[in-house]
Amino acid sequence: MKFVRVAETAREAVTLTVDGAPVAALAGDTVLTALRLAGLPLRHSEFGDGARAGFCLMGACQDCWLLVDGRRARACQTPVAPGMAVATHG
Ligand code: FES
Repeated sequence: MKFVRVAETAREAVTLTVDGAPVAALAGDTVLTALRLAGLPLRHSEFGDGARAGFCLMGACQDCWLLVDGRRARACQTPVAPGMAVATHG
């Protein structure tokens, strides 16, 4: 699934880190949106069947759990914040 931003490009810039690397986002994006716009997977499947990108994008499927500032969070339900640290494994 490829994400492309087509609107609302004038929102405030936000930088978070994903596995220690900086990722640019815009205020109001979810963590899922930020990672997918950056071309990153959300995580790798614990069952060995590859990278995951989320499925429902609305908090129902449980496919997007990550660690956000050390706490488990659903990427599709978590808004980005400046300096936020996301870990896709661990
Ligand atoms: S993508 Fe389904 S719960 Fe987040």
